[in-house]
Amino acid sequence: MTFGRLVRWAFVAAVLVAVALAAVVAVKLAGGKTGGPVQLVKASPEVVARGKYLAEAADCAACHSAPGGAPFAGGLAMPSGFGTIYATNITPDPDNGIGRWTADDFWNALHDGTRRDGQPLYPAMPYTSYRGMTRADSDAIYAYLMQLKPMKVANVRTALDFPYNIRLGMMGWNLLFLADSPPATSTGNSSAWQRGRYLVDVLGHCGECHTPRGIVGQMELSRSLTGFALGRVAAPDITPAGLAARGWTGAELRTYLGRGIAGPGSAFADMHQVVMLSTRNLTAEDLAAMTTYLLGDSPPPPMPLPAVDPATTNAAGRGTYVALCAGCHGLEGRGVPNTVVGLVGNSTLRQTDPRNLIVATLDGIGPENFPHRGSLQAMPGFADKLSDEQAAALVNYLRATWGGQKPDVTAAAVKALR
Ligand code: HEC
Ligand code: HEC
Ligand code: HEC
Repeated sequence: MTFGRLVRWAFVAAVLVAVALAAVVAVKLAGGKTGGPVQLVKASPEVVARGKYLAEAADCAACHSAPGGAPFAGGLAMPSGFGTIYATNITPDPDNGIGRWTADDFWNALHDGTRRDGQPLYPAMPYTSYRGMTRADSDAIYAYLMQLKPMKVANVRTALDFPYNIRLGMMGWNLLFLADSPPATSTGNSSAWQRGRYLVDVLGHCGECHTPRGIVGQMELSRSLTGFALGRVAAPDITPAGLAARGWTGAELRTYLGRGIAGPGSAFADMHQVVMLSTRNLTAEDLAAMTTYLLGDSPPPPMPLPAVDPATTNAAGRGTYVALCAGCHGLEGRGVPNTVVGLVGNSTLRQTDPRNLIVATLDGIGPENFPHRGSLQAMPGFADKLSDEQAAALVNYLRATWGGQKPDVTAAAVKALR
């Protein structure tokens, strides 16, 4: 059976469950509404400020703003295996946004994944994580959003392929997969650990990228935060064991999440936006809580880089490194402080999955601004300068010499990522 067919069958199964629930559905729909009065929300400046902070911790702007568009006015196109889903306008515009929504309507969207008209939302909206949010925090975010300038930006209609266009099918999906909270990924009990768990699993919805997904797009909670390839780029394993294996300590993680660049590496691809829009705005206390949860109350010691076995490195790869990369990253891979990341022990080289290293080498990394440290220059891409064989030799040299990984990357693996 092909992958596509499996997905379709699983979806059909989910639809059947939904049909069995027809009565519940009817009740829910009867409770849905459209129109209604424009809501005027009175909230203290403290609550609005707290709502702003929470909206940043939850990164609502990442999806609810289109590139170049007004924040929260919606429009970001999110391609999925099932068609393109558009994030909506959540400014208080009465006709296009949430201007007529009550705090209850808003809570239903965040907690149950239900739209105001009673129809289910697609889990491209991470209610699957926000479900654990407290009512007080939902109300504070609502209070903050409702005092923004209303933006008259029309929503783009999401039109998925059959049978995914049947929104009600999501009710079956929710029944099968919507969990109150994922199992903890580290051991701990301190108040920092508890707060961190809420920040990582609920507000930060880190698992939406870092947790493997099953065939109908559900997060596989038994493998929470163990890493998943979003496409060409992978969100790596960020469980205590995964982080320690790549040399992360609590202090380095705090620096990485707060500044985007730390000893073991810098944030790029999707993670750069997570840092810029979300984690860098967290208080020092919340950042510390987040890393306490990621590593646990008794963090495992970071693994040292194993000694290099000369038999595993290769001269061709070294030659390419010296010719193309050493000018910036240094002959011995030490980088330039605050300007170019070092590659010795770099967390991207230490990943078993080579894809991020291959993609960074082929595509380069655009110029990225980082808080507090100014900006890093862009790294050029080398796709047109390296054959598949040359790129594989280079990547294998880097993995074996500075990453403690097997030099097992083939030319075919490089080709597949072009
Ligand atoms: C990962 C992307 C993503 C993030 C992060 C996200 N959303 Fe959404 N949201 C969406 C998408 C996509 C939809 C539309 C889904 C659909 O059409 O079923 C949506 C829909 C909604 C809706 C329903 C709007 C309507 O008109 O029906 C509300 C309310 C909402 N989001 C609020 C929020 C808030 C508040 C946050 C932060 C706490 C947030 N979202 C974070 C992607 C996201
Ligand atoms: C013009 C300078 C320059 C050259 C040449 C260069 N790099 Fe980079 N590289 C950078 C910078 C700057 C970053 C950090 C980018 C960021 O995150 O914003 C970087 C990041 C990386 C990363 C991601 C690691 C991390 O933690 O961010 C890898 C992997 C990498 N470079 C490999 C290479 C390889 C392999 C070559 C040679 C084929 C190379 N680079 C050539 C400047 C350069
Ligand atoms: C939109 C998807 C997405 C979300 C949400 C996300 N990440 Fe990531 N993350 C990535 C990708 C992709 C990478 C790999 C690129 C890199 O290393 O910068 C990454 C890398 C990382 C790394 C570096 C790992 C390493 O060894 O290099 C850490 C730590 C991390 N993420 C933590 C988090 C935490 C904590 C959260 C929640 C607050 C989070 N991420 C949310 C996509 C995401």
